[in-house]
Amino acid sequence: MTSDLIGAQASAPAEAVSQPVSAPLTSAAIFLVVTINPDEESRAPVLSMCADLSALVRSVGFRSPEGTLSCIMGFGSDAWDRLFGSPRPAELHPFREFRSGGRHAVSTPGDLIFHIRARRMDLCFELATQIAARLKGAVTTADEVHGFRYFDERDLLGFVDGTENPTGSAAADAVFIRDEDPAFAGGSYVIVQKYLHDLDAWNRLPTEAQEKIIGRTKVSDIELDDSVKPTSAHNALTTIEENGREIKILRDNMPFGRPGHGEFGTYFIGYSRSPRTTEQMLENMFIGRPAGNYDRILDFSTAVTGSLFFIPTATFLDNVSADQPAPAPSSGTEKGATASKPGETSASAAPSKNGSLGVGSLKGEDFHE
Ligand code: HEM
Repeated sequence: MTSDLIGAQASAPAEAVSQPVSAPLTSAAIFLVVTINPDEESRAPVLSMCADLSALVRSVGFRSPEGTLSCIMGFGSDAWDRLFGSPRPAELHPFREFRSGGRHAVSTPGDLIFHIRARRMDLCFELATQIAARLKGAVTTADEVHGFRYFDERDLLGFVDGTENPTGSAAADAVFIRDEDPAFAGGSYVIVQKYLHDLDAWNRLPTEAQEKIIGRTKVSDIELDDSVKPTSAHNALTTIEENGREIKILRDNMPFGRPGHGEFGTYFIGYSRSPRTTEQMLENMFIGRPAGNYDRILDFSTAVTGSLFFIPTATFLDNVSADQPAPAPSSGTEKGATASKPGETSASAAPSKNGSLGVGSLKGEDFHE
């Protein structure tokens, strides 16, 4: 089975074909996060889904090739152990929480993610429907968000979102694992968080104050000069340098919402070669750099989900066999982080995957029902 029609990318290492992580931005996306049901019978349908994904994308996508349908499938830390065991991706672990003051980057359940993108929502919807039908009875939905592209690539805060994303070979370099973990070269990591905004409070701020929070001008999307940009600006805290070199991630954030319910949000999705980069950004945003100098976006935005997934290559997915034996229990899982700051400020491991989301609308729905 080949996977070229899911937009597999030639820029990844030659041995394996990567999933279409750096596919161009699209006008529609569905973010589907599920947990695998605990019974032993639930394993086989998930494994066979892995091998069938490229064919499903071909079947739905070929009906409208100009719609550029693609889908990326990822695995949470516990799910990896349960499905595949050893070897495991070197940096796969549960989502690390960050907490300081009233700000909290929560960790919420998620065994699998499907990041479905297309120029038209009907394509995304049809593929999500096919995936849900295949996994019926084997998984429970933890979260499902239907995102749309808003005017001039703006988020619902009114700012253009995505400008400083790397492109071309810089994007491939930012997202694909190479020699640092040879068994998983061509793979990637992704962190997702669903944010809800208090738009009334945000819109009461003068534009100039909003621009200082984001670090760019609102209408023209020009980066503020360092002489006026606060060190707490969003684009300052999310700039990471190592040995004098900037380390980038690749974002494909999408607005979502239900105006009739007063719900306005941004679905953050960031791919990276190492989850440490995105975790460092989160630490800077939630705890501050230095501590206390935090991201004021968080005075108007609440993270209600948070999960980390490994994205294997398309070649890996194609070769998964539905009847491969269950792995022996693994002891090598890296479980969470150490506290990074004393006192009220902390970074910690994820709760168990049965932990509550604490959000009514995110309550799991079983595909059984
Ligand atoms: C409430 C959720 C968020 C919103 C509304 C948001 C919005 C924005 C906007 C408007 C920009 C400036 C334009 C651009 O370069 O894309 C930006 C930049 C950026 N954001 Fe976010 N963002 C959010 C969350 C996050 C999170 C959670 C991270 C990482 C953990 C992140 C990482 C970045 C990075 C790396 C940049 C580019 C910085 C630069 O190089 O200039 N963002 N974001």
